[in-house]
Amino acid sequence: MRTLFVTTALPYANGPFHIGHIMEYIQADIWVRYQRMQGNAAHFVGAEDAHGAPIMLAAEKAGNTPEAFIGEIARGRKPYLDGFHIAFDNWHSTHSQENTELSQDIYRRLKKAGLVYEKPVEQLFDPVKGMYRADRYVKGECPNCGAKDQYGDACENCSSVYPATALKNPYSTLTGAKPVVKSSPHHFFRLSDPKCKTFIRAWLETPGRLQPQVVNKAKEWLDGVGDKALADWDISRDPPYFGIRIPDIAEEKYLYVWLDAPIGYLASLKNYCAKKGIDFEKFLQDPNLEQIHFIGKDIIYFHTLFWPAMLEFAGKPYKVPDHVYVHGFITVSGDKMSKSRGTGISPLRYLELGMNAEWLRYYIAAKLNANVEDLDFNPEDFLARVNSDLVGKYVNIAARAAAFISRQFNGELFDFGEEPSVNWADAIAADDAIAAAYEGRELGKVVRDAMAIADRINQHFDHAKPWELAKDPTRQAELHRTCSDAIYGFFVLTVYLAPILPATARRVAAELFGIDRALTFEDRKQRPRRIRAFKHLITRVERKQLDQLFDIASVPQPSAPQRHAEQQQHTAKEHAVDTIGIDDFNKLDLRVARITRAELVEGADKLLKLTLDMGGSTRTVFAGIKSAYAPEKLEGKLAVVVANLAPRTMKFGISEGMVLAASWDKTTAAGDGPGIFLVSPDSGAAPGMRVK
Ligand code: 2FM
Ligand code: ZN
Repeated sequence: MRTLFVTTALPYANGPFHIGHIMEYIQADIWVRYQRMQGNAAHFVGAEDAHGAPIMLAAEKAGNTPEAFIGEIARGRKPYLDGFHIAFDNWHSTHSQENTELSQDIYRRLKKAGLVYEKPVEQLFDPVKGMYRADRYVKGECPNCGAKDQYGDACENCSSVYPATALKNPYSTLTGAKPVVKSSPHHFFRLSDPKCKTFIRAWLETPGRLQPQVVNKAKEWLDGVGDKALADWDISRDPPYFGIRIPDIAEEKYLYVWLDAPIGYLASLKNYCAKKGIDFEKFLQDPNLEQIHFIGKDIIYFHTLFWPAMLEFAGKPYKVPDHVYVHGFITVSGDKMSKSRGTGISPLRYLELGMNAEWLRYYIAAKLNANVEDLDFNPEDFLARVNSDLVGKYVNIAARAAAFISRQFNGELFDFGEEPSVNWADAIAADDAIAAAYEGRELGKVVRDAMAIADRINQHFDHAKPWELAKDPTRQAELHRTCSDAIYGFFVLTVYLAPILPATARRVAAELFGIDRALTFEDRKQRPRRIRAFKHLITRVERKQLDQLFDIASVPQPSAPQRHAEQQQHTAKEHAVDTIGIDDFNKLDLRVARITRAELVEGADKLLKLTLDMGGSTRTVFAGIKSAYAPEKLEGKLAVVVANLAPRTMKFGISEGMVLAASWDKTTAAGDGPGIFLVSPDSGAAPGMRVK
């Protein structure tokens, strides 16, 4: 038996889950469920990533303490996790006693190992806010590729990592002020130390530990030269900061959130161990224990360089990760979603619309493999796979065969004795391949293999024409064999698909076969004796449901408590004023853009699809101006765009902003003339310019 400690990346406690989180959790949950079905002990934990400046500032903006703010976010998690059958054993927070103790302990050990030192750091200081503007709160041009509006720690365009002071033309994203450079002593983790590098290299190169793409990426960083050389890591932050105090020093300094975040994996495990009466340190030191992290491709750097090095040099009881499994991003109809700008499909809306969580689990599984590839959610593809494959192939077997067994044979299945039934034997023959695919996270292969079996079962069934056999009293034995064989095959398929479809598998086991416990992989070898009445299992997706899913602005929906808080704030504001202050206006990032392409959108009455040159980057915006402009008239024109509008997922793709246009406001204005008039800056304006 294997003992596994499995985690998913800890979500920032400043917003509800988006579909990218759910995809990762589904991937890990399927893997964990498979391991359990094989009799392995898998301990699966998650937690809120609660610290850091963004959360502190978001709390401040919401008029809340950070503690209350993250508490509210955490309380909103359950409907998502339950709704999508994601069965973490424990959910904790990096803002916890356990994490404080573990982080300070690890910090002290690294310091003792000679891997932490102090050095003055020049940083950008926001003179308006009286605060250092680290990483995410200053933007400017990427020092590497020149892309505009990049954060102060890493470039979303070229993925390079740099200090905020390296940004060109920096500005504070909170106040817009030009930051000044100020110095303060910082604590560094000596990542560039030869012993660190030697360790990381050996860790990266351990066969089977990481995906080859991940090893290559990590080695690029490890082996960088010149200004790309692996730098020491600044692990401290100055107040005000929401984080864990650096111990044993007089000044008030905090550990950088990315130091305490992965330690949160251990904090959640420790909290879980306490609940279960497990000795945490003993558990970690069990030589059998495998520590496995599922993460997205954007955080490889932290998980393959810092994290293993921190654990290695902190020493026992800590152990280095055995595997870090990396997945790509989820896109919607081919459009990339940015982590910082939100995502397309709202998981909560999906559930609220009554859409079946297992459709999504099945679809995601069908499209996942072990590579670091993006996964595209395509509505048509979703519809086809769920309706034709999941329902049309798998569920259909039971729906067709069970009726005959119940009606003609009183629920008794044909006894093949020692003789293998064809479908059962065929399905069993795939078990090694399916097990290997699960183990290797080739979930798409699991689904393909399972569907190939389902196809063969359906073919045998069709070929035997049971509906004709049923009419012929002399061929009842044949009918019995045919339908029983289909059911045996269906049973094995249910075992195979149980990690992906846990609720359905549970129902099939209990309702059809009278097995009132979770299925194990070993169960595949059984041939049940009888069945109970078949109850409808999974309905088909309706196109209407997908339309509804995409019809509204599908940026992540706030959780209920958040929504409530927002409503209250909103109401309070409404009563107070009906003018806005300059700060409110300044929240709008209005930019000049050039329309480089304008296209008709198939199936849309009012929309045109615009491709905009924002001066350094390109965006797609869907604008409701079709009635007023022929597409070819727009190409080359300048427009004004609301550039910081949350992206909105529409049926036709993601709209990444809004172009301004004038028209009569029917509800308040006197005029009622027709027409929509695009707002365009005077000639001489250039794409990327700010409008204020
Ligand atoms: O990128 C993120 O969303 C981080 N909150 C992930 C942290 S993973 C771990 F280190 F905690
Ligand atoms: Zn760049």
